[in-house]
Parts: sequence; structure tokens; C-alpha cells
Amino acid sequence: MEKISRKKIVDILKYSSEVGVKINVKGWVRSKRGNKNINFIALNDGSSILNIQLVVEVEKFSESLLKSITTGACISAIGELVASQGQGQSLEIHVDEIQVYGEADPLTYPLQKKGHSLEFLREIAHLRPRTNTFSAVLRIRHAMAYAIHKYFNDNGFFYMHTPIITGSDCEGAGQMFQVTTLDLTNISKDKLGEVIYDDDFFGKPTSLTVSGQLEGELGALALGAIYTFGPTFRAENSNTPRHLAEFWMIEPEVAFNEIQENMDLAEDFLKYLTQYALDNCSDDIAFLNEMWDKELISRLHFVANNKFVRLSYTDGVAILEDAVRNGHKFEFPVCWGTDLQSEHERYLVETHFNCPVILTDYPKEIKAFYMKLNEDNKTVRAMDVLFPKIGEIIGGSQREDDYEKLKGRIEDMDIPIKDMWWYLDTRRFGSAPHSGFGLGFERLLLFVTGMSNIRDVIPFARTPKNAAF
Ligand code: 4AD
Ligand code: MG
Repeated sequence: MEKISRKKIVDILKYSSEVGVKINVKGWVRSKRGNKNINFIALNDGSSILNIQLVVEVEKFSESLLKSITTGACISAIGELVASQGQGQSLEIHVDEIQVYGEADPLTYPLQKKGHSLEFLREIAHLRPRTNTFSAVLRIRHAMAYAIHKYFNDNGFFYMHTPIITGSDCEGAGQMFQVTTLDLTNISKDKLGEVIYDDDFFGKPTSLTVSGQLEGELGALALGAIYTFGPTFRAENSNTPRHLAEFWMIEPEVAFNEIQENMDLAEDFLKYLTQYALDNCSDDIAFLNEMWDKELISRLHFVANNKFVRLSYTDGVAILEDAVRNGHKFEFPVCWGTDLQSEHERYLVETHFNCPVILTDYPKEIKAFYMKLNEDNKTVRAMDVLFPKIGEIIGGSQREDDYEKLKGRIEDMDIPIKDMWWYLDTRRFGSAPHSGFGLGFERLLLFVTGMSNIRDVIPFARTPKNAAF
């Protein structure tokens, strides 16, 4: 093959300045059609949702070579870039040379040109990045990760790496995956039947983290403003379209921010990310809008440009109780003191306000120990950001900065103080008001891509009874 440097399809389509020039493209065949004189190959190299059309004169190539070019095959092609006369594309390549890197037998290659269900594609998650939908989702996922780092860097936050293996349960929900090197077929127990952890790797029980927040707070009380962005693990047995056992969470934590400023940060952050997606992922979003969710683009514009509603949990519950009185049926009951279900959150956002909602001041009983107690002694300075189609996208709070009150809450919740001494120390030495929140990365992606199942916005989903690939 002639030695010509390879061009990415995204660059070819962006800078059509190379018309008339011989170029090399490499990628995977999405489809091939044509007649006995001419073949049209749609080639995709992953750099963009858009394909480039290769125009192949049949007489220039051997029959066996052309026969081996089927959907899914990987090829390299060289030819002149020309303005297309056909419909549906502006540029095409008139091919002089083709090399087949890897064939894809049409009898066994699972991704044929016809559309496949999302459920089927989950079973072939190793190949689904080659579909239009998943390549679009994965490009958006990358762009959002980049935008998150950019937002915080531009706003003076420091990226902090918090541990993945931990000895404490931040959310106190007990939904942790244990980490151990003990031989499970031969566990030593004491007289009371309790497992002896002395011989375990860390000499004590440890788990995968459910949140980097506690360590993040230590960082914020030294560096002023930090964020974490890492994998997070929850062994909750929730088989829902919004829960993963392994997901990624972004947790900013800011010294001197109180709950109002925490809400301002969350709203500004979410709007920035939404606008970033609109500005930088327009081809992929347009595709997903067309394919899966015709309201995606207008929803993104709406969220980027409208003020979020802010109200207390108490007022939110009153609205929901009113709805029930007026005949609205929820699957789960709602009254002051209960944790809100996704259907309640979505009623507030989608039916009542038609706008993202930040709900604050929840009953202390249904929130974690570290949240700052309000003067009423009943509610805590919690905030959940509720989004259309998603429900809770962010959970956060102002933190309890008073040593005695925090210690009291830890004891109330039966959390062993011996595991928490280091956390309590920040309230003993130079304590300060501070606040933060956690954004579920995949929940953000559900919102930005319009996909409706969280398994479809992460390359390889981890859910109950499923850890394939
Ligand atoms: O509300 P959560 O549990 O809050 C925390 O973990 C706090 N420590 C955060 C903080 O204040 N720094 O979780 C935060 C967010 C949720 O709003 C949701 O978006 C996401 O994490 N999340 C999940 N995403 C996917 N699968 C799960 N199982 C999730 N659990 C929580
Ligand atoms: Mg929460």
C-alpha cells in the first residue's frame, strides 16, 4: 500500500480543505451496498457519529477482496477526497487501494445493519461500542468527564484522590462490598462466633468505598475547595434503571460554603455541564435526539437556561399530599418523615414545577449522620437536586461542624467512634462551616444522552447478578 498518513474521519469532515487530495482512512465497515459496477461503503472510525462514504469501482479490485468487505470488517482505504454528488453526505473518497485488516464473518458477527434492541446489545457489551448509539454515548461520556475537570480547574478546585478501600461507611447505609484476603472456606471465629480479622490483609474489616466525601472533607479543610471523581460501590440490591453497583461519583467539598452557596454551586455546575454538552457534542446529541428521545435537545436547553426551583422537603411533601388528595396515585405512600421515592421526585419536577428542583431540609432520620442539624432539631441542612427523567441527580449537604453535635449524631447512629476519630479531629482542630455534594456521573449521562437505562451509559455495567465482561 502507498504510504500516506492516516486521517480521522472527524477531521476530514470538519476541514474539507483536503478536497482533491489523496488521503488514507481506516475504520470499520458499517454497511456496503451497490451494483456490479460500483460499491458504496459507509466507513466509521469512532472519531465521530458520521461515516465517510467510500466509492469503490468494482473492476479495480479482486472479487475475493470485495467479498471480504462486509459489515463489521476493519479496512484501510486510500483514495482521492471529492465533493459528493450523492445525497446524505458532502464528501466521499474515490478509492484506489484497499487493505482488509480484519474480516467479520456475516454468519457470526452479531451486529448487522438492522437495528438491535438495547437489551440484546447489553449481552454483547464488548461489541456495542461499534454501534452508533454506544459510540455516541461513550464520546459524550468522555466529553463530560473532561468538562467536569475543566469546570473545577477553572474555578480553583483541587482534584483529590480519595481511597477506594475504606474502613468506614460514609453513608451509614451498610451497603458495602467487603474487601478481604481471608480464605472464605476456612474462616477463624472467636468464642462469640465473630470473625477474627487479625489475619486479614488490613487486620480489620474493610470495604470498597460508597463515597469519597469523608476524606474529601479533610481536603477541603486544608485546601479550601477540592473535588473527587472516582469509582464508587454500593451493594444495594436495587434492580432499577437508575442504580449501578459500581458507578462514578463527583464530589466537590468547599470550606466556608453554607447550604445556599452549595446550591448555587450545584446549579451552576449542572448548567455548565449541560451547556458544554450542547456546545461540544452536538452531532452525537442530535443523533440520540432523533433515535431515542425527541425531547432531548429542548430539555437540555431548558435546564441550561432556567432557574431551578428551591423548596424545603416539608413544602415538597405538602405538594405531594395535595396531589394524593386530588386523586393522583403513587405506588409508595408519602407523608412527612418518609424518604421520597423516584416517582415522588419526578412528580415534583415533571408534573408540578416542570423544572429542576432543589429540595432542602430533610428530616434528620432519613439522612446521613454528617449533615448539619437545623435549629428545629428535626431537620438537617440536606439538599437533593431532582431532574426531569432522572429524579435525584445530586445529593449533598452542609456538614455538621460542631464537635459535640457531630459526636452525638455518630453515637445516635451506632457508628463506632473508634473508626471515626480522624473525621472528628477536623471538628476539634480549626473546624469551619463547609458543604459539598455528590453528582452521580451515570445519572448525569442519562440526562445528557436521553438514554433511559443506566446500564446503557457505562461501558460495562455492574448490577445484581451481573458482572460480565
Ligand atoms: O446521595 P448520595 O448517596 O450522597 C453521597 O454519597 C454523599 N456522600 C455525597 C456528598 O455529599 N459528597 O449519592 C450521591 C449521588 C446520587 O444523587 C446519585 O446521583 C448517585 O450519587 N448515586 C448512584 N448512581 C448510580 N447508582 C447508584 N447505586 C447510586 N447511588 C447514588
Ligand atoms: Mg442521596
